[in-house]
Amino acid sequence: MTPVSTSVASNLPTLPADWVIRPRRAKDIPGVIELMRRVYVQPHGPEAVWPAETLVKHLETFPEGQLLIVDGKGRVIADSTSMLVTSELALRPHRWSEITGHGTLATHDPRGDVFYGVDLAVDPEFQGTGLAHILYDARIALAIHLGCKTFVAGGRMPGYHLTSDLLSPESYLALIERGLLFDPTLSKQLRLGFILRGLLRDYISDPESENCAALICMEL
Ligand SMILES: CC(C)(COP(=O)(O)OP(=O)(O)OC[C@H]1O[C@@H](n2cnc3c(N)ncnc32)[C@H](O)[C@@H]1OP(=O)(O)O)[C@@H](O)C(=O)NCCC(=O)NCCS
Repeated sequence: MTPVSTSVASNLPTLPADWVIRPRRAKDIPGVIELMRRVYVQPHGPEAVWPAETLVKHLETFPEGQLLIVDGKGRVIADSTSMLVTSELALRPHRWSEITGHGTLATHDPRGDVFYGVDLAVDPEFQGTGLAHILYDARIALAIHLGCKTFVAGGRMPGYHLTSDLLSPESYLALIERGLLFDPTLSKQLRLGFILRGLLRDYISDPESENCAALICMEL
């Protein structure tokens, strides 16, 4: 990965001296699976955790796009999965499975002008300590280096199920956007500079988000 000086927000946190951010390697696959098991606990089912074959496909397809953070003992503490797609696909209503090839990245388009966030997972023990900020910063640097114009993702809204008997998903997003409610995932992404573009219904099987996601974008 070519380092490029950019940052989603000015106050970029720093990693402990013996922690490393780098592209994922084949030897990391068991550690990534363990991380996803720690992150995607119930009510998520086992399908929320990448199988090893899928992680192998990511490395075959777009190795430089898969970035993680390991601690001083080599344990995977945070992991991100990304791909390139066209803006025509990314900015219209879509489902996670169709845009990511069911998570395999078979739909990765090396000429795509959009850097697409497929997944991001931070160890629950270290959430809120800036690791997503550091990973987004590195992903944005890579996206700019690759000539992408926009970073797009379907942002999870895992707090929605707590209010869904009172609020439509659109109303929930409006309150999150105005900072009147806090969502443990989406609010952090907005804090990092993403802009809310709309609601994606039936985006992914996600009981906490009631299968919805927020279409979020950042111009690069
Ligand atoms: C969503 C997730 C990746 C965020 O990772 P994280 O490491 O906790 O995020 P960070 O600590 O980098 O926080 C990002 C921003 O949100 C803000 N933030 C973090 N915790 C916050 C809190 N409790 N209240 C308000 N703001 C908060 C931070 O200020 C930070 O911005 P800053 O660095 O400019 O100050 C992580 O919570 C996670 O893995 N969740 C489960 C899986 C998931 O939902 N993945 C996303 C898929 S779309």
